[in-house]
Amino acid sequence: MATLETIVNGMKMPNPFVIGSGPPGTNAKVICKAFDEGWGAVVCKTVSLDASKVINVQPRYARLRSRTSGEIYGWENIELISDREFDTWIDEFKQIKDKHPGGCLIASVMEEYNRDAWHEIIGRCEEAGVDGFELNMSCPHGLPERKMGSAMGEDPTILREVCSWAVEATRKPVWAKLTPNVTRIEDPARAALQAGCSGISAINTIRCVMGVDLETLRPEPSVEGYTTPGGYSSQAVLPIALRMCMEVATVIRDEFPGRVLSGLGGIETGRDAAQFILLGSHCVQVCTGVMKVGYRCVESMCEELLQFMERHGFETLDDFRGHSLQYFSTHAELVQRQAEARAAKHAEHLRKQVISDDAQWDGDTFVDQSDALARG
Ligand SMILES: Cc1cc2nc3c(=O)[nH]c(=O)nc-3n(C[C@H](O)[C@H](O)[C@H](O)COP(=O)(O)O)c2cc1C
Repeated sequence: MATLETIVNGMKMPNPFVIGSGPPGTNAKVICKAFDEGWGAVVCKTVSLDASKVINVQPRYARLRSRTSGEIYGWENIELISDREFDTWIDEFKQIKDKHPGGCLIASVMEEYNRDAWHEIIGRCEEAGVDGFELNMSCPHGLPERKMGSAMGEDPTILREVCSWAVEATRKPVWAKLTPNVTRIEDPARAALQAGCSGISAINTIRCVMGVDLETLRPEPSVEGYTTPGGYSSQAVLPIALRMCMEVATVIRDEFPGRVLSGLGGIETGRDAAQFILLGSHCVQVCTGVMKVGYRCVESMCEELLQFMERHGFETLDDFRGHSLQYFSTHAELVQRQAEARAAKHAEHLRKQVISDDAQWDGDTFVDQSDALARG
C-alpha cells in the first residue's frame, strides 16, 4: 500500500502538500482550517518585526483567463508581506501549536539587512513553537528601498550573509525561498546552501505586468490610475518553476546531498506535484491554487498523487524523488544520441534485408530483400 507520509528535514508530514506563504496562511483561523482539511504543513504569510511599515493597496490582484473556457491560469499580485503585528503573530503561533501540536508550522520571515533583527525574529518565532523557517528572499515588489525580499535574493553575496545570520540563530530547519527573477537560480541556491540552509524553496512569483485596459489605457491592477510591476503565479508559471526546481535539485544532488527542495509555482493537482517530485522536490507548496478553489483541494491532490504512485508501483515518495533528473542533457548530446539511434536503425534495416533461409522473406521488406540478393 503506497503512502504519502514523509519526513522533510526531520519535520513529519502526513503528505507532501504544504500551504505556500500568502493569503492561505495569513492568520491562525485559516492556518487551523488548513490543518483540519489535511494539509501536510503550512508556511505562514511572511512576517516581519515592524508591520507598521507594511501598507497594502486595493485592488492588488489581476487575473488572466483562458479566452475559450474563462478559467484563470495567470495571477498577478502586488500584495506586500503580512500587515499584522508581530506580537499578534507570536500569540497565534502558540495558539496554532496548542490546537495542532502535530501540525507542521513553518514561519516565513523577512527582515532588513541587520543581523540583530534576524536573530530577534528567528528567536522569538522559535520560542513560540514553530517547527521551521522559510526566509523570504524573494518578494518581487515593495520594500526594496529597505533592501528586503528579492532585493536581497538577487545578490548571492548578501543572500549568503543573511542566510548565515538566520542559520546561526536556530537549530530548526531553515529554507531560503528564492526569486525566479534572476538569470541563473543555481547561484543564489548555492549561496544559501553554503551558508548552511537546510533547504531551498523555489519559486516565488515572476515579475510581470498583467496587461493594459484598452478603454482606459491604464495598466492593471490600477490603483488610482497607476500601477507597479507585480508577481505572477498560478498554472501559467508551472513550466518555469519546473525548470528552476530541476536546476536547484541538480545543485543539491551534486554538491549538497542531504539538503532539501520545497518546489512550488503553479501546482494545482496531484499530477503537477508528481512532476515536481520527479524533478527532486521533497515536498510541494500551493498558494494561488488554494485561492482559486479553497482548502479542500488537498484531498483530490493526495488521491491523484497516490494513483500515480500505484500505477508505477512506487510505495513511498523516496521511490521516485529525482528520478527524472537523469534525463536532462545538453543539446549537443541530444544531437549525438539521435545520430547514433538513426545509425543503429539503419544498420538493423540493412541486416533484415539479408536472407539466409526462405523463412526470412518478409512482406514489408520484400523488394529490398530481392534487391539485396541481386547485389550479392
Ligand atoms: C496574493 C499572494 C501573496 C503572496 N504573499 C507571499 C508572501 O507573503 N511571502 C512569500 O514568500 N510568498 C508570497 N507569495 C508567493 C507564493 O507563496 C508562491 O511562491 C507563488 O505564488 C507561486 O506559487 P503558486 O503558483 O502556487 O501561487 C504570494 C503569492 C500570492 C499570489
